[in-house]
Amino acid sequence: MPPTSSTKPSPVKLYDFHPPVEDFRSAVLRGLSKPEKTISPQFLYDKRGSELFDAICQLPEYYLTRTEMAILRANAEDIAAALDHRALVELGSGSSQKIRILLNAAPQVQTYVAVDISRQHLQEACAALMADVEGLEAIAVCADYTQPLPIATIPELRDRPTIGFFPGSSIGNLEPAEVIAFLKTVAVLGDLIVGVDLKKSASLLEPAYDDAQGISAAFALNVLVRINRELGADFDLTQFEYRACYNEVAGRIEMAIASLSDQTVRLGDAEIPFKAGETLRTEHSYKYTIDEFQLLAMEAGFKPVQVWTDAEQLFSLHHLKQI
Ligand SMILES: C[S@@+](CC[C@H](N)C(=O)[O-])C[C@H]1O[C@@H](n2cnc3c(N)ncnc32)[C@H](O)[C@@H]1O
Repeated sequence: MPPTSSTKPSPVKLYDFHPPVEDFRSAVLRGLSKPEKTISPQFLYDKRGSELFDAICQLPEYYLTRTEMAILRANAEDIAAALDHRALVELGSGSSQKIRILLNAAPQVQTYVAVDISRQHLQEACAALMADVEGLEAIAVCADYTQPLPIATIPELRDRPTIGFFPGSSIGNLEPAEVIAFLKTVAVLGDLIVGVDLKKSASLLEPAYDDAQGISAAFALNVLVRINRELGADFDLTQFEYRACYNEVAGRIEMAIASLSDQTVRLGDAEIPFKAGETLRTEHSYKYTIDEFQLLAMEAGFKPVQVWTDAEQLFSLHHLKQI
């Protein structure tokens, strides 16, 4: 699909590969007709979803953001050296907050490409970044990073060396076998810096994904609001609740929306039955040891050259080089 370039006057150039609403409809219907109902985590991020995710990042229970930012700050010079003069491509850039730490430490980096599925949030984040970082060219690419990246169609990156940055432990949303395929696909970016959440006790993990204020619950349930609004479904939000459990054997947090009653949801012509207690999976978030993640990276053809962590070993940041 060719990109649509933004025509609105904005300091940020947007390359728009956002899938059409029909793709959203068919993906939702496909996921809801599986024996274990699922929805891809990317659909959690409409404008409201992105705002709720930003609120999650501020929660006391959500150790991930503050820990990864502390690791970035503590090792900014080392990481800046690894970036060299390459154009920096961030996958799932969200509010582009973490990148600010790296850009401050690496003034030689002048081109930043933010790839995210949440279009309006992406544009606003890039505009704010360009206003704050002098001399930076920020380019917004609205695309699904699980698909082959449309990097070759972006003129600003033609014949330019790049490096990929994938923070936030978003890689944990992929199944381990998918991680290998994903890393092979994003190898088009060259070397990678990837944030990976580490294995730890359920007593720390579960509150991070199901906080006392109910923001994580609101974030997950917002996908039903989105499906109602964009696809004309009739999910009754009083009849569903959010759950997050750590499955220690699989090494993953399992996030789901559970039906509170036997009920039928309508989505266009489709009728989707839910039994009381039946779940719709919204996300898996895999946790790894450093060795486990490095093995996956090696299977994908990367050489782990450096790993940065915090003193409590909560989170890790991996520098992977192309072999
Ligand atoms: C967990 S948040 C992380 C945000 C930020 N990188 C951070 O570390 O705080 C995931 C981000 O990736 C985006 N995202 C999720 N799935 C995506 C996909 N398949 N393609 C592109 N962006 C995606 C979301 O819109 C969101 O901004």
